[in-house]
Amino acid sequence: MAVDAVIIGLGYVGLPLAQEATRAGRKVLGFDINQHVVDELNAGRSHIDDLSDADVAQMVAGGFEATTDESRLGEAAAAVICVPTPLSQDGGPDLRAVEAAVDAVARQLRPGMLVVLESTTYPGTTDEVVRPRLEAGGLVAGVDFYLAFSPERIDPGNAKFGAKNTPKVVGGHTPACAEAAAEFYGVFVEQVVRAKGTREAETAKLLENTYRHINIALVNEMARFCHELGIDLWDVINAAKSKPFGFQAFYPGPGVGGHCIPIDPNYLSHNVRARLGYPFRFVELAQEINSQMPAYVVQRVQDLLNEDGKPLKGSAVLLLGVTYKPNIADQRESPAVPLARQLLAKGANVQYHDPHVPSWGPLGGQAVRVEDPTAGVAEADLTVLVQNHREYDVDLLAKTATRFFDTRGVAPEGAKVHRL
Ligand SMILES: NC(=O)c1ccc[n+]([C@@H]2O[C@H](COP(=O)([O-])OP(=O)(O)OC[C@H]3O[C@@H](n4cnc5c(N)ncnc54)[C@H](O)[C@@H]3O)[C@@H](O)[C@H]2O)c1
Repeated sequence: MAVDAVIIGLGYVGLPLAQEATRAGRKVLGFDINQHVVDELNAGRSHIDDLSDADVAQMVAGGFEATTDESRLGEAAAAVICVPTPLSQDGGPDLRAVEAAVDAVARQLRPGMLVVLESTTYPGTTDEVVRPRLEAGGLVAGVDFYLAFSPERIDPGNAKFGAKNTPKVVGGHTPACAEAAAEFYGVFVEQVVRAKGTREAETAKLLENTYRHINIALVNEMARFCHELGIDLWDVINAAKSKPFGFQAFYPGPGVGGHCIPIDPNYLSHNVRARLGYPFRFVELAQEINSQMPAYVVQRVQDLLNEDGKPLKGSAVLLLGVTYKPNIADQRESPAVPLARQLLAKGANVQYHDPHVPSWGPLGGQAVRVEDPTAGVAEADLTVLVQNHREYDVDLLAKTATRFFDTRGVAPEGAKVHRL
């Protein structure tokens, strides 16, 4: 059977996409440079939260196959690139994985092929970085092959919206490229939205994440002064969100995490500064406010311990939930890391519990894992609820704790329970 699509990069983004395409009856090949990931998938085992082993086994039964063999890219009618785009030293995206993946496609490019970039990046990447590399062999985008950008909007852990029912934006290098991409996704995605071009599709993704980043910064800044003024911000947000139009609720927290929100807006501000010479002030301010939240939590922890006549140095501080969002195992950019590091730097005895994190790599053994959270909160001088996983009985934990600092606004009020 000919291959309908090769998905390049089988992570949080690529694998759910491969699953939907396979479910729709497409013959899908997965390409990754990580041999271990490929072997696990072929054996029917998943390495990401949103897919179970049974899901992967079902994909394999449906014809999905993973490979590290680059020569097989040429078998596919479409190539979709979902490789990581971390931040580089200078604050822009590190495009090395994208470039490597594009070069691999370029070596196997055939006339009529559709190439789509899904990795989040700055506006212009598809046209200025991807297109020249693909055209190096002589084939021309929009003439000999189709080229498009389609931003990935996956929300790991979201039970309601997945790859199939989240509308898919596509922007083509030419209108025919957009049509080819829309036709491709239309088979397994409920709604396809056409952007004017690749730059508009790239920027749409950055606008979405910048919007979130800025609104989180807004409530984080408010959290600080509402605390000083004795105003319950959680109650404020609850009241405000009753407005059926013109308002969307965002909540404060100990900082922003994940691969997207703390990182993607930088692609835009870095690009605006590099090309136009002036700052994207909203992004830079949001970055400043959100990145200060772990230090603010440390300050509040210190103040609460002070009420009990305890110094932070030598006190046992238990962190509950160290992933970047609830109910998943992904720890990328989690604010729990700077929070723990700052507590350790001030001499606290840092402990942690997380049902999804059996050993906390970034803290290299400096934070001791507590096996039983209920016993842990009773023994610690202070507990910080960093991430509210569904496994936590927050009422019980807050009641049992010596002091409980709730950064998520979910614990019932009490003399020893405090909110961000
Ligand atoms: N995770 C999310 O929630 C999310 C949401 C929206 C957008 N994105 C964007 O999607 C892109 C991919 O992110 P992810 O979370 O899936 O990353 P990931 O780290 O989960 O997976 C990426 C995979 O790509 C593989 N890879 C790296 N270089 C490769 C290459 N040259 N050829 C083939 N495979 C290669 C890696 O081995 C890994 O398995 C990023 O640009 C990210 O910004 C991620």
